[in-house]
Amino acid sequence: MLAAVGSAVGLGNMWRFSYLTAEYGGAAFVVLYLAITLLVGLPVLLAELAVGRGAQRSPIRALAHFGGSAWRPLGAVFVAAGFLILSYYSVIAGWTVRYALHALLGFDGDGVVEYFVEIREGWDAFGFHILFMAITIGVVAGGVKRGIERTALVLMPLLFALVIGLAVYAATLDGSAGGYSYYLAPDFSAIFSREVLTQASGQAFFSLSLGMGAMMTFASYLERSAHLPNESLVIAFADMGVAFVAGLVVFPMIFALGLADAVIGTAGTERDVGTVGALFVTLPKAFAEMGAGGRIVGLLFFSALLVGALTSALSLLEVVVSAAMDGLGWERRRAAVVMGAAVALLGVPAAWSVDVLGVMDGIANTIFLLGGGLGLAVFVGWAMQDPVGEVSTGAEGVRWFFLWRWLLRIAVPLVLVFVLVDAIPKTFQSVAALFGS
Ligand code: PHE
Repeated sequence: MLAAVGSAVGLGNMWRFSYLTAEYGGAAFVVLYLAITLLVGLPVLLAELAVGRGAQRSPIRALAHFGGSAWRPLGAVFVAAGFLILSYYSVIAGWTVRYALHALLGFDGDGVVEYFVEIREGWDAFGFHILFMAITIGVVAGGVKRGIERTALVLMPLLFALVIGLAVYAATLDGSAGGYSYYLAPDFSAIFSREVLTQASGQAFFSLSLGMGAMMTFASYLERSAHLPNESLVIAFADMGVAFVAGLVVFPMIFALGLADAVIGTAGTERDVGTVGALFVTLPKAFAEMGAGGRIVGLLFFSALLVGALTSALSLLEVVVSAAMDGLGWERRRAAVVMGAAVALLGVPAAWSVDVLGVMDGIANTIFLLGGGLGLAVFVGWAMQDPVGEVSTGAEGVRWFFLWRWLLRIAVPLVLVFVLVDAIPKTFQSVAALFGS
């Protein structure tokens, strides 16, 4: 289960959560993200855990085990999602490596925006992307994941403690009040915006590593006595908790440090960096303000974040590698090297342009993860023989599983179809716009 938490907690909670919260208007997005995580994400997470533990196989074979080979294509969608997500995830992880190194030298508080603009694309981004992929491939090929997971066991609590400490620090800064109202006081008209709902749903799935078989893979190692509802609650609350507290760091700081124009573009001003950089611009500025101590805190923060990114990246590559091992009969080393190299190649355009990165991220979340989640809900809700029996194993006495099954049958698919109908054409438009510009 710790591995599952390691997969869930990563750049999604920090970089992507603050990016999208800034992009889609603050508190309304946060409210929808929390609601979707609980109402849609949790049932789908429980479904993934039930399928994975029940089948004790890698995702494609697990689907075939419970639903027959007609369901293999859904597994192929999972693998494609892992492939695509890791390719640009690694670019952002590369930024993180870069920041961890730079933290030691100390950030220049006046130049944070320029610094981010300089390193986010081009040869720098490319080099650190390749470095991060090489590490990820090495870990998966060498089968030393256990060691990394043990490191994560120490560093994840450290990350959480640091984030809490930073949130307290942010509260002491003058001018942070604007950040709290941006982050916590929702504009109710935006809660009813379909676009915000779509983005919040994508974020809920991304952050929980849902809809692409990663959680299913972890569950395939679980004992039959494991209490799946409890596991899913722990994973979901740990994941939401980290993201929520990260927001309590980033948004007060954005306002207190005078970065609102550069990041959020308030009051009709042009944005300098755009919301993609919310995390990577704000925290270095705060570390610079802290003086010498800020170097240590900055180094610790970006290093811990990097380990979080690595455990997430491992789970992404693992889905792809296990599919290659099962489907093509490759051995682990070869599968990791060949597939990892292909992923690294696919990520190159994202290292050269944040616009490309944003579009890839949009495709991955709105089409692959939400589509994969829809497929899973239908699979467990309608195709699997006895999902309630499966999920009840180890959790005897829980009485609401019938409710879970009806959520998966009706409510979750309805929400996801509603969201996908909105998201798919918009995603195609964003691809077209990219090639048009
Ligand atoms: N959940 C991870 C994060 O928040 C990203 C991820 C997505 C990992 C999908 C695996 C699968 O950083």
